[in-house]
Amino acid sequence: MKNTTQVGIIGAGPSGLLLSHLLHLQGIDSVILESRSRQYVEERVRAGVLEQGTVDLLCDSDLGDRLRREGLVHHGIELRFDGRGHRIALSDLTGGRAIWIYGQQEVVKDLINARLAADATIHFEVDEVKLSGIDSTRPVLEYRRDGRDHKLTCDFIAGCDGSHGVSRDSIPAGVLRTYHHVYPFGWLGILAAVAPSTEELIYASHDRGFALHSLRSPEISRLYIQVEPDEDINNWPDDRIWEELSIRMATDDGWTLQSGPVLEKGITPMRSFVVEPMQFGRLFLAGDAAHIVPATGAKGLNLAVHDVHKLAEAFSAWFRAGTNELLEQYSANCLGRVWRVQDFSSFMSLMLHRYSDDDGFRGRLQRAQLNYVCSSQAAARSLAENYVGLPHV
Ligand code: FAD
Ligand code: PHB
Repeated sequence: MKNTTQVGIIGAGPSGLLLSHLLHLQGIDSVILESRSRQYVEERVRAGVLEQGTVDLLCDSDLGDRLRREGLVHHGIELRFDGRGHRIALSDLTGGRAIWIYGQQEVVKDLINARLAADATIHFEVDEVKLSGIDSTRPVLEYRRDGRDHKLTCDFIAGCDGSHGVSRDSIPAGVLRTYHHVYPFGWLGILAAVAPSTEELIYASHDRGFALHSLRSPEISRLYIQVEPDEDINNWPDDRIWEELSIRMATDDGWTLQSGPVLEKGITPMRSFVVEPMQFGRLFLAGDAAHIVPATGAKGLNLAVHDVHKLAEAFSAWFRAGTNELLEQYSANCLGRVWRVQDFSSFMSLMLHRYSDDDGFRGRLQRAQLNYVCSSQAAARSLAENYVGLPHV
């Protein structure tokens, strides 16, 4: 069992796995510690929208084979309200940029396969991961696996362990400033074995609440409805979900939503969260460990990919040339995009969801915003360039 590595990575989500892969391409060794099983991380249903820049990075890093074959390229999205749909022509408005539909769990499977094919060390089902010496030059990861204690001495540690991981809490009190905003709603999401009733994503704003029709493949649909953040999933038998989706997405010209067997369902509260800085000593945070965005902008995974791209470049400069400028600037180089994306995700969330305490005023502002975005090319372009991902932030 290996007991030293250059970069010890906590978490085998998209951030940890992609970081490990990018480091490998630069000849840098890493070990990944993951608390869940391989099957669990490969089956966890989450994001589905990849920005053009994310797809370009995956393809440039030899991870594009299945993505190019099975991913669906989309050139527009629909905003639906007052019984009518309005197309935002993403590609026309952004000089040809697009989004790709490819499930996060497919990205994770591709990454695990690539890492294991290169003989990488990924320890699944580890317990009690502890960090020490993060302000020294030899930080240590301690963990339990198969009932035994292990120690991994590293040059650096990457905290890629999501919003409920251990790495962020290992930073001494007083170092981090935390920004947190809780939205008064959650999303109930389903994955269904039915052909999508739409070719492009539909974001629907309705007096009964927001609804989203997304997809995964020509046979699998992914749909969401706005619910109370503390809603009990047991209140939502499948029939009720389909009925509510149909009502919220109805159009005046009689569009119909096809229903089918529900394969998976769950509720996610919507929140924004950022810590600054994203680093302390030899510990660097990436992805959901450092920030969460509400899912309305479809950005969390893409932001995680941006972080680890920057982090891999910074580690590479350190190991190859001994320069630490990029490592020192890591947090600053990520936070510009983090806050741009927070703003966009908040804009989309505030425009599209129903607020239960609304006395009518907020609803009128939302209609004005939606009408503006759907009638002004400047407003539509602003939404489009953020949605496909700004290239240089
Ligand atoms: P995670 O995926 O959370 O991975 C962290 C890993 O660390 C996990 O495998 C976890 O098991 C492991 N871990 C945690 N604690 C420990 C520990 N103590 N020891 C060892 N391992 C540990 N983003 C988009 O870009 N587009 C979308 O369309 C989109 N839709 C979404 C829809 C939903 C319903 C949800 C919930 C999220 C969505 N997101 C979307 C966000 C996206 O899924 C996340 O931003 C992404 O998973 C972040 O990846 P990560 O690797 O940083 O964190
Ligand atoms: C998804 O397909 O899961 C998805 C799509 C768009 C979003 C969020 C999630 O804004």
